[in-house]
Amino acid sequence: MGETPLRLVFLGPPGAGKGTQAALLSAERSFAHISTGDMLREAAKRGTEIGRKAETFMKKGLLVPDEVVIAAVRERLRQSDARKGFVLDGFPRTLEQAKALEAMLQAEGLPLHAAVDITLGDEAVITRIAGRRTCPKCNRIYHVVADPPKKQGICDTDGEKLLQRADDREETVRERLAVYHRQTAPVASFYRERKLYRAVSSDGDLKEVGRRLGLVLSTLAT
Ligand code: AP5
Repeated sequence: MGETPLRLVFLGPPGAGKGTQAALLSAERSFAHISTGDMLREAAKRGTEIGRKAETFMKKGLLVPDEVVIAAVRERLRQSDARKGFVLDGFPRTLEQAKALEAMLQAEGLPLHAAVDITLGDEAVITRIAGRRTCPKCNRIYHVVADPPKKQGICDTDGEKLLQRADDREETVRERLAVYHRQTAPVASFYRERKLYRAVSSDGDLKEVGRRLGLVLSTLAT
């Protein structure tokens, strides 16, 4: 793929592979991978006021209030790397967030190229999340079967011990799925109305999903 600075959002249920595909794509095209989940988890780890507030919602599988997430994304998009293109992974997740993002990008004259829905059924989501391990240092995502590290339980990139996310217990995942169907699925219509909506099935291995995504991106007008 070339170096066209695409501006994308990734929609889709928890565990569908948004983070995995966003990381592969941003490495390939050297644009910013902006994950609101990672941003909030890092703030929680640092113990900032925003982080402590966010953690109480994340633990329960609920969405962090719109104003907190919108302010964080606004600040992040001002950083220079976002000018080279970006993929927003896990944002927007409500209509309020979608409207706020549209206004932010309009003000900069940098509209979105597409909202890509990475789709996967609920039971497949549960299986994927059960096997997920992440590096606490670099946030790299693995799966114990589908995408294991070279040495079991250890990050290939920096040798850190891999962890399971605190919100990956099955009952929390079921709550996150319910929240997704209730609050985030309607965001698809917002982008359909603007002719920005694209769907990519995540039912297949990592390479196959990446190939489907590449095909969709190659059709975008830049
Ligand atoms: P966030 O971190 O965004 O979590 P999520 O949306 O629930 O998505 P996940 O990170 O669980 O999944 P993913 O789609 O990235 O899948 P992954 O690539 O890891 O949000 C967490 C919390 O933060 C929210 O609940 C909320 O509280 C808060 N939050 C975040 N953003 C917010 C916002 N905008 N507003 C309000 N609150 C917000 O893949 C999953 C697993 O499957 C991995 O193990 C991977 O290796 C594996 N895998 C991936 N692709 C494949 C494949 N094709 N085949 C087999 N295995 C695969």
